Amino acid sequence: MDSVLIIGAGAAGSVTAQKCAMNRDVFKHIHLASRRLESCVKVQKQCKTPIDVSQVDADNVADVVALLKKVKPHLLINMALPYQDLPIMDACLEAGVHYMDTANYEPRDEAKFSYSWQWPYHDRYKAAGLMAILGCGFDPGQSNIYCAYAQEHLFDTIETIDIVDCNDGSHGKAFATNFNVEINLREVTQRGKYWKNGQFIEIDPLSIACMIDYPEVGPRKSYLIYHEEEESLVKNIRGLKQIRFWMTFSDNYIKHLDVLQNIGMTRIDPVMYKGTPVIPIEFLKELLPAPSSLGENYTGRTSIGCIFSGTKDGKPKRAIIYNVCEHAECFKEVGAQGVSYTTGVPPVVGAMMLFKGAWKGAGVFNVEQLPSKPFMDEIGKQGLPWHVRDMTLSDQQELFAVKT
Ligand SMILES: NC(=O)c1ccc[n+]([C@@H]2O[C@H](COP(=O)([O-])OP(=O)(O)OC[C@H]3O[C@@H](n4cnc5c(N)ncnc54)[C@H](OP(=O)(O)O)[C@@H]3O)[C@@H](O)[C@H]2O)c1
Repeated sequence: MDSVLIIGAGAAGSVTAQKCAMNRDVFKHIHLASRRLESCVKVQKQCKTPIDVSQVDADNVADVVALLKKVKPHLLINMALPYQDLPIMDACLEAGVHYMDTANYEPRDEAKFSYSWQWPYHDRYKAAGLMAILGCGFDPGQSNIYCAYAQEHLFDTIETIDIVDCNDGSHGKAFATNFNVEINLREVTQRGKYWKNGQFIEIDPLSIACMIDYPEVGPRKSYLIYHEEEESLVKNIRGLKQIRFWMTFSDNYIKHLDVLQNIGMTRIDPVMYKGTPVIPIEFLKELLPAPSSLGENYTGRTSIGCIFSGTKDGKPKRAIIYNVCEHAECFKEVGAQGVSYTTGVPPVVGAMMLFKGAWKGAGVFNVEQLPSKPFMDEIGKQGLPWHVRDMTLSDQQELFAVKT
């Protein structure tokens, strides 16, 4: 296997295409397709080695099948939006091509992301002898693989996981989102949720916060939100008692978000404007900077990791696995900011795992179900080095004290 088709030439897809083009020993044939050909051509010019490009509407199964039959890739990496997951999965089944994505499906008319739409494809992928690898970005993706690695190599039992995601960068804009505007705002404005003792517990949006001490950044206020990897990790990490997901948001971000929500600009239902239905959040996306345009002069870094508590050799143990990524370094390498970079690199390594046979199987898989070690061995070489640090009881006291 050596041929890949990437769909979605946006902020993260551009990184995926460029990184594949830097690894021609693995990726002999690279094809990038997107809704607008001009987006692909822009990325094509950034790639260090030649790639092919096409226009495709990935909402349309027949369109994607026709492209797959023309390009004949071994793997399709879906870097478009969650709305396109199901049509692309259908097309891959029809054309006999392996599938990978970085975000689970959500319907356009309801801000609800869940694996409940993609997991039922398991039997059909299995019968076709194909692999669908779900959620292979950073979080979900690298975060799940940190959990699998901790389960396989660091702990005998894992009792709690806190996934902690800090973007301590500054893009210099009044307000912008670091990945697709619509998907980001839909995620942040929905009700929060965490999992404890076998059940998910809902909370009001952004209603629980605490200070988390991020490696190479320091203490930052972080909010408990729901994130999709919790849905699969509670099934795949044995003996887990609690999992929570935390993300930093600046006061400035929260202030803008409040105003936008209060005036209805984050609504996902159509409103009539001069006889034409307009969806406010789609219109807002046109006004805000594209995440792919934020890289230049972006300062600071991301610091994202998983904090575990559990046992090893009969004794209590706490540890963190994390990555720190400098926005300016990412821009220098691929013209992108750190959030696009941390999203766009893991699928390249996931594709390498499939092509080299380290990840194999038939059916639908979340990445923590696949061997973590070969992925962890490669991801640092591709730009996302990771670190493990044992923690003492005095580390992250505020986080461990939050009563949930
Ligand atoms: N797991 C993670 O860590 C993580 C983190 C951040 C984001 N993500 C996910 O990564 C994905 C990409 O995010 P992003 O920030 O790169 O967003 P983005 O910059 O908005 O890029 C999305 C791209 O999808 C393309 N697209 C949209 N509809 C399409 C269609 N019907 N057919 C073909 N192409 C279509 C767009 O193409 P054109 O430019 O051609 O119009 C756009 O370039 C999203 O699913 C997001 O949820 C995952």
